[in-house]
Parts: sequence; structure tokens; C-alpha cells
Amino acid sequence: METKVNEIAEGIYRLSTFLPKVGPKGLTFNQFLVAAAEPLLFHCGQRALFPTVSQAAGRIIELERLRFIAFSHIEADECGALGEWLDAAPGATVTHGAIGCAIWLNDQSPRPPRALADGEVLDLGDRRVRRLDTPHVPHCWDAGLLYEETTGTLFTSDLFTHGGDPAAVTSGDIVGPAVAAEKQFGFTALTPAAGATIRRLAALRPQTLAVMHGSSFSGDAATVLASLADFYDEALQKAGSPGTR
Ligand SMILES: [Fe+2]
Ligand SMILES: [Fe+2]
Repeated sequence: METKVNEIAEGIYRLSTFLPKVGPKGLTFNQFLVAAAEPLLFHCGQRALFPTVSQAAGRIIELERLRFIAFSHIEADECGALGEWLDAAPGATVTHGAIGCAIWLNDQSPRPPRALADGEVLDLGDRRVRRLDTPHVPHCWDAGLLYEETTGTLFTSDLFTHGGDPAAVTSGDIVGPAVAAEKQFGFTALTPAAGATIRRLAALRPQTLAVMHGSSFSGDAATVLASLADFYDEALQKAGSPGTR
């Protein structure tokens, strides 16, 4: 098992581990390190991945310098290795939305979490990350995303998931592969809020989408997000139409 490191935006690193047996094409599991004055890790990865992912992170910063750990929602690939990361970085604080702290972290985290309100900014010194509550998008009540305002990088968690071991960053089509993966796995909670939530992200006009499974995207991210929102709106309409299920 190897974790590849690529800088996808200035000072933002993708730590990517390909697991060939997940799904028909294999799947990448990507964590993102914001190598700011006060460094932040987005996604912990599963516990089994911790040795290789932490070694990769250690090539960018000394792990003891890690200041914040964040993730989108409670699930093994998002936060399974939280305890291991907190052990490796004694000065780090885990941050999450208010719901996630209430239903999980206040009880389960080895150290007390810092709850971030919807829209609250975490100042990392030379970088600023904004917490965006996105309940049930991609899935789970506690779900939220981070937007790094200095580089215009949106950390999308499982949105745009696609299989295989593609390039670290693409400017090509990621909506087609994401729709194919969604049709195959059905991992997104299809609710009336899904399309509207993704359109709210499009309004940020990000420069880069840091995707948890698959390539990150660089380019006209607002259009790409709007296309994904259209797909979920249409899927919801079809699901609600008699005789289409
Ligand atoms: Fe997930
Ligand atoms: Fe994931």
C-alpha cells in the first residue's frame, strides 16, 4: 500500500491511497493537508491506512505541528483513525459541526472537540477555512464541508466520488464518472435538500475541488457543481414519479 502526495493548490496536499479491491475499478481514499502556519488535516482515513498516510503527511510537515483535524461526517474513511492522529499530534484539536459534536465527538473523541457553527471561519494564519453545514449531503446528519478561502479550494468529501486511480488533478469531466459511480453505489442521501445544498456550494465559485475519492478538479467548479445538483434534482424527481422506480 502506497500513499501518493500531490500539491493540488498552493500549500494544499492530497494524500492518496488506492485500494484496488474496493468496487469494480478500485477506489482512491484521499486525505488533504493544508500546510498552513497552523496546519489542518481534512479526513483521517481508516485506521488500517494510518501508517502509510501519516508517513506521507510527515514528508510535508512534522506531525507534531498539526493544529486541526476536521472531516465531513462520521464514517471510517472520514474519521476512523482520529485517535491515532490525536496521539501523533498532541497539540491538535478535532473540529466538527455542532451536530457531529453532539451525536458523536463529545462522547467518543479522545480529546474534547471544537464545534464550528455553519459559516464559521477557522483562521490558520496564512489560510482561512470556512465550515459549511451540509446535512445529509453527501450523507449523514452531521455532514459538512470546508472551504479554504485563500486558494478557493472546496473540500467536497464524497461528492464527485469516482473509481479507479486517476490523475491527482483534472480539468476534464468529473461529473460523468461521478454520476456513473452514484448510479452504481447510491451513496448520496437523495433528499429535496441535495440539489439546493450543492448549488449553495456552486455560489462560492471555487477554483479547486478537493475530492475524497478520485481526481481533484481544477477549473470552472461552479458549472461542475451546478451539473451535479441538476443530476440529483432529476434523480429525485424520477424517484417521486409513479412507475419509475
Ligand atoms: Fe462518506
Ligand atoms: Fe468517503
